[in-house]
Order: sequence, then structure tokens, then C-alpha cells
Amino acid sequence: MGDKAILPPRPLGRSRVLIAAAVGVIGVVTAVTVPTTPAGAAASTLGAAAAQSGRYFGAAIAAGRLGDSQYTTIAGREFNMVTAENEMKIDATEPNRGQFNFTNGDRVYNWAVQNGKRVRGHTLAWHSQQPGWMQSLSGSTLRQAMIDHINGVMAHYKGKIYAWDVVNEAYSDSGGGRRDSNLQRTGNDWIEVAFRTARAADPAAKLCYNDYNIDNWTWAKTQGVYNMVRDFKQRGVPIDCVGLQSHFNSGSPYNSNYRTTISSFAALGVDVQITELDIQGASAQTYAAVTNDCLAVARCAGITVWGVRDQDSWRSGDTPLLFSGGNKKPAYDAVLNALNAASPGGPTPTPTPTPTPTPTPTPTPVPDGCAATITTTNSWQGGFQSTVTVQAGNAAISGWTVRWTWPGGQSISSLWNGQQSVSGSSVTVRNATYNGSIAAGGSTTFGFTANGTAATPTATCTSP
Ligand code: G3I
Repeated sequence: MGDKAILPPRPLGRSRVLIAAAVGVIGVVTAVTVPTTPAGAAASTLGAAAAQSGRYFGAAIAAGRLGDSQYTTIAGREFNMVTAENEMKIDATEPNRGQFNFTNGDRVYNWAVQNGKRVRGHTLAWHSQQPGWMQSLSGSTLRQAMIDHINGVMAHYKGKIYAWDVVNEAYSDSGGGRRDSNLQRTGNDWIEVAFRTARAADPAAKLCYNDYNIDNWTWAKTQGVYNMVRDFKQRGVPIDCVGLQSHFNSGSPYNSNYRTTISSFAALGVDVQITELDIQGASAQTYAAVTNDCLAVARCAGITVWGVRDQDSWRSGDTPLLFSGGNKKPAYDAVLNALNAASPGGPTPTPTPTPTPTPTPTPTPVPDGCAATITTTNSWQGGFQSTVTVQAGNAAISGWTVRWTWPGGQSISSLWNGQQSVSGSSVTVRNATYNGSIAAGGSTTFGFTANGTAATPTATCTSP
């Protein structure tokens, strides 16, 4: 995938870069100068500081605030990526079926490119903020309307958008499965259809899946999205990035396993973008931790905060952003310092092990029945993730049961593609409804995350 970056990674030693912004569908041709930083000097804005390691730092921008000079002064100075907070959503861009309206989307887009910024597109397929006509559709009619919407919006912005949030918030808040919605009820393949449609509509845009509460690695929702992305990569469904919204608050706080989440998604072969960052109370320490976690992973492409000043936030009472009125908050300094501390021209080496994709093991075939092998695919302090490969022998099987015993008090926190039952240290996993049948010599996998020290006990497999 070509990265249509308007701002390339900053070459050291140059003080200014002349950039010709894209000729828009909107017809804008702009030449802007973007301050960068002399070698050895600390950058003085978030965008310039992030650019030192080839990353961006963005903000959600609202068309209705572009007449506020304090707002545009801060936003114009600090950020080099823009997301339209509401103006490119479905209700804004297709208020009546087949009638597209890009008035406010273009206001945000034009402001961004005229000020030398790239644009993230948000969002094409979502259960929320659907116009009334779409809310009332179902089945194949809705499926076609979704496809038409993606094509209509992406055609308008073709070649102009760095990354699109193709699908937004499709997973349930509990259990690791899909959220019920009119789109989900059109069939489980609606997400991959959206991505395939988007790739064809604008091959230059990075295509992201974007969600909230997928920041904590141990949460079932995170694992559900991780499994979907892994499945998409394995089957060739076009996906380039995962957006971690990262709306942190007391019910969904920042956790130090965030870096594991970022590196685990990245290890699947997608970029990670922090897309809607805000932190209740705006702790400087937490903002710095988030920034450092992104800097630690090469494929963490950048950070976007969800608004400019606290008063602009969708939850302003939480004072979650980097500016209060025209003033920089302590969290601003923490982020800027963290970005400036990153090694120029590249990401900071990660101090924690980045998960390395492990080749799928091939258990020794058995004459009949099945064999199972446990492989650790990722580990962190206090936990680990494993894949279990179940292989059929010389005959096809319909149903399997894998058993093992934990050596040192480990416990499963989340398991997918199987049904577990646990008795003390003994674990039994039976096939799910959809992966019990394995052809002769074929295999399937299930996976889990667990608490404790990583272990790979010998597993037995039986087939009825
Ligand atoms: O502009 C109208 C105004 O004319 C009207 O008087 C007023 C009355 O309610 O509504 C105004 O529109 C509101 C709009 O924000 C602009 O302020 C909508 O009601 C309100 O629903 C909308 O909220 C947006 C929300 O998404 C909708 O789901 C927030 O601004 C926006 O920050 C928020 O962003 C979402 C991301 O898209 C996805 N991830 C979560 C994030 C936070 O909820």
C-alpha cells in the first residue's frame, strides 16, 4: 500500500520543507511551508516533534469551530493530521439516499490541506449516526446502500485521504463478538465487504478498522478484534490499519499492557493508529505513557487527539485534552517531551519484547485421531498468549478434544475458537460448532490468553 503522505519523515538538518498540497476534488492547490526542526534541537510543536520519527500528531476538527481564531491558531500550529469530528459521517455525507453532501466535510478537508495537514477519513460504515433512511433499511437493500455509500464518499475524496476508518465500532462491549446492528444483521461478512469495496474505490487510502475499548490487551473485545484482523490478513481481506480510539476514563482506564496491544496488532502486519485519544483528567503521566507506547512500536503510525481544547471535547466535563482555552496543559508538555525524546528518524527500540509471529507448528501426524501442539505467540509480565494447532491424522475427524495440565498455576483469561472447561490445573477444550470437522491431514487452531508465566505443556488430543 502506498502511503500518500503529504509530509514525509523529516530529513535531519533541513529547517523547512516546501510542500505542494494535493490538488483536491475540491480544487484546492496550495503551497505551504511547514516548520521542521534543525538537527539536535527540540521541536516546539506536536506535529513537528512527531515527524522526527516519521509519525504524525493529529486532532479531530469540527467545521463549526473554524471561525474561532484561538481554535484555528492552536490547531494550525500544533497538528499535522486532521480527522473531521462529525462531518464525514454517514448522516452528514448522505442525508438522503443517493444524494451526497460534502459541504462540511470539504470545509474541514480544505482547512486541513490549506494548512499543510493530511486527513484521516471518519467513517464509512457504522451502526451510529446513520441517516433516518438508512436506519430503516435491512437485508440486501441495506447491504447495497452501504456499498453505494462507501463508493460515493470515497470517490469524492479519492486520492486525498491518508487513511479511512472503513468500519467503526462493530464489536460488542462484552464477550468478544460482534455488536448487534442493522449492518450486522445483513450478514457476518458485512465488514469484509466494506473493506473490499473501499480498496476498489480508492486504492491509495489506508483502510482501518476503528473501535473503542480495544486498548486493554486482556479484554475480550480486544481479542475479538485481534482475531478478526488476523483472519482478514490470513484470507487476504484488504485491511491496512487498526484504529485504537483510546478514550480513557475511570471505567476504561489506560493499562500498561497497551504497548502489548499495539505491538500485537502490528505483528499481524497492520499499522496501528491511535485515533481518538482523550484521557479523563488529562494526567500528564498517562499522556506520556500513551505517547511512549506508540513510539516503542515501529508500526504505530501516529496519534490523534479527539479535539483541540477541553471546551471542544465531546466530554468537556472530563477536561481530557491538551489545551485549556489558549493554554498548554501539563499533559501537552509531557507529550511534546516524549516525542522529542524519541530517536530522530525512527522509532524508539521497544524495551519489551515485540511478539514475533511464530510459524504454525506441525504436530507429528498420528495414524488416526488427532494431535495438538501449544505454541506461545506473545508474552508480557504476568501473562501470555498461545495458539494451539489441532491436526487430524490419516482420517478426517468430526469433533476433537484437547487436554493439558498447567505446570505452575496459570489460568486462561480468554479463549477463542473453542469451548473450555477447567478443573483445577486441568484444561479441556472442545471444538467450537464451526471447526470440529478437519479433513485427513488438515488442521485448525484455537487460541487463548492466560495469566501467569508462559508455559507450553504437552497437550493430548482425542477424537470421538
Ligand atoms: O450540530 C448539532 C446542533 O445543531 C444541535 O443543536 C445539537 C443538539 O443536540 O446537536 C448538534 O450535533 C451534535 C454533534 O455531535 C455536534 O456537536 C450531535 O447531537 C451529537 O450527537 C454529536 O456527537 C458526536 C458523537 O460522535 C456522535 O456519535 C460527537 O461530537 C463526536 O465527538 C463523537 O465522536 C465519536 C466518534 O465519531 C467515534 N468514536 C467515539 C467518539 C466519541 O463519542
